[in-house]
Amino acid sequence: MPHYQKLGTIPHKRHTQFRKPDGSLYSEQLFSTEGFSNDYSLLYHTYAPTLIVKCDDPIDVSPKIAEEHMLKHRSLEGFKIKPEADYLDSRKAVLVNSDCHIVLAAPQKSMIDYFYKNADSDEVIFIHEGSGKLLTCYGEIAFAYGDYLVVPRGCIYQLHFDTEINRLFIVESHAPIRYPKRYLSKYGQLMEHSPYCERDIRTPENLQTHDEKGDFIIKTKKQGMLYGIHYGTHPFDVIGWDGCCYPFAFSIHDFEPITGRVHQPPPVHQTFETDAFVICSFVPRLYDYHPLSIPAPYNHSNIDSDELLYYVDGDFMSRKHVTRGMITLHPGGIPHGPHPGLVEKSIGKTETKELAVMVDTFKPLKLTQYAIEIENDGYVMSWAE
Ligand SMILES: [Fe+2]
Repeated sequence: MPHYQKLGTIPHKRHTQFRKPDGSLYSEQLFSTEGFSNDYSLLYHTYAPTLIVKCDDPIDVSPKIAEEHMLKHRSLEGFKIKPEADYLDSRKAVLVNSDCHIVLAAPQKSMIDYFYKNADSDEVIFIHEGSGKLLTCYGEIAFAYGDYLVVPRGCIYQLHFDTEINRLFIVESHAPIRYPKRYLSKYGQLMEHSPYCERDIRTPENLQTHDEKGDFIIKTKKQGMLYGIHYGTHPFDVIGWDGCCYPFAFSIHDFEPITGRVHQPPPVHQTFETDAFVICSFVPRLYDYHPLSIPAPYNHSNIDSDELLYYVDGDFMSRKHVTRGMITLHPGGIPHGPHPGLVEKSIGKTETKELAVMVDTFKPLKLTQYAIEIENDGYVMSWAE
């Protein structure tokens, strides 16, 4: 992310001697997700972040594909994913392609005795239910209902939950998550026509420096395998950092909807983008105000992307039988639109309370075994009811 941040204590000049009170050197680390070619941060560790003391045997956590190819509208009952105590066990990839994984999770317990690192993917963790804190070496970020937590790949983290009732919708992205380019000035500021701005971005705070030695396990995901790597020092031992690559939070409730006299196309809801998909936020808003406007969306042929909608709260005006946590998938190749009767019904309505997250992927998504287990049968024929 392009906006410069600084927290804790850092030396005046980068790559120079920076000493602890006892005279020994802090250990500088450059953290980036695109080599030396894009945004980065410089972190100052109490100990070198390289002190591996033991490696566990890896565990295969790759998604089990149930349908490699398909061309049907699908509907999944997301809240049928069963809660599980452990965070990593609770994460169930339901739809995947070579660019991203769509994951549902209902973790009950905080991560206390290990840390997690996704070495393959940036993660966008949408908080549907629950609250707590995201802990990283950058500091902590408090989260609650409606937050997108954006964690760059390689960033070690823990999630601490306030209660056992948590529902997460997670997008793992092999490419960096970015703000939409058209909202950025040539030097990276979010411009006036953007639906959110820098004030809405919550960055790490309350940096705690853990000067601790012991056995700290970082469960690291890489190419579908989970590696338990033990380090001799606490990963959150940073005394200070600065730069432009760091985890942050953005609340869907801070997304300012863009509306018009007639129906606005889905890109007005765009919130994040990568080279391979976009993430959009559908939030409560006033409907179109042309005297003959039709608030329901027109039918459209999304020939070049799969459209995934994750329903969060409120009535969703273009669909019947919507439940909280439901996913609908409208694959590229067959047109879709409002269910019968809902176009006429939408006329005259002045506002919507709908809240949903959309992910449009440019490559087709595949269904995993977990998706089949929570599928609503017959959705493809629901326009014929
Ligand atoms: Fe659509």
